[in-house]
Amino acid sequence: MKILIAFYSRDGDNANTVAENLKNGFSELGHSAELFKIIPSLKATAADYAKMKSIGFENAPPGLDEFDLIILGTPVHSFSPHPVVDSFTRTLTGVENKKFAIFCTSVALAGTTVQSLSGILVTMGADVIGSLSVKSLFELNEEKLKPVKKFPALLIEKMS
Ligand SMILES: Cc1cc2nc3c(=O)[nH]c(=O)nc-3n(C[C@H](O)[C@H](O)[C@H](O)COP(=O)(O)O)c2cc1C
Repeated sequence: MKILIAFYSRDGDNANTVAENLKNGFSELGHSAELFKIIPSLKATAADYAKMKSIGFENAPPGLDEFDLIILGTPVHSFSPHPVVDSFTRTLTGVENKKFAIFCTSVALAGTTVQSLSGILVTMGADVIGSLSVKSLFELNEEKLKPVKKFPALLIEKMS
């Protein structure tokens, strides 16, 4: 199967680590996963991104057609998806009937992050088949990455 893992990492740290672990997990199962870093074309605070009508992105996302599953990853910002990921998600085309999964990284409290992102995707016609909330309190160590390493197999099972 072909999987796209599109994510934003504000600090370039936790979401990045989760995305790479997922990619490795899929590859160990014999599936090909491609990472796509969401990069806004201008730097701003999350509050300013949230006020923008649309955020431009440095790199256009690959066409979703060629992927069997798309995973969207976001850092939690004030118990919600980061505004960059919220905006990016709304720009996606070809979402209808596509299978999606979501991951978020937070210190401890993810709030409504998964529900919000899932709501946007479902409204766009996507089929959201799974989600994972990763908490880093106080560091994202091997123990906290265990559910991440199990997530690819769970998703592949749901795909079949
Ligand atoms: C402005 C701001 C708001 C945040 N809001 C939350 C939050 O509501 N709940 C939470 O548990 N962590 C919150 N965090 C922590 C980040 O979600 C967490 O460190 C995340 O893993 C960062 O991912 P990254 O390293 O990929 O950018 C916040 C961090 C910042 C800087």
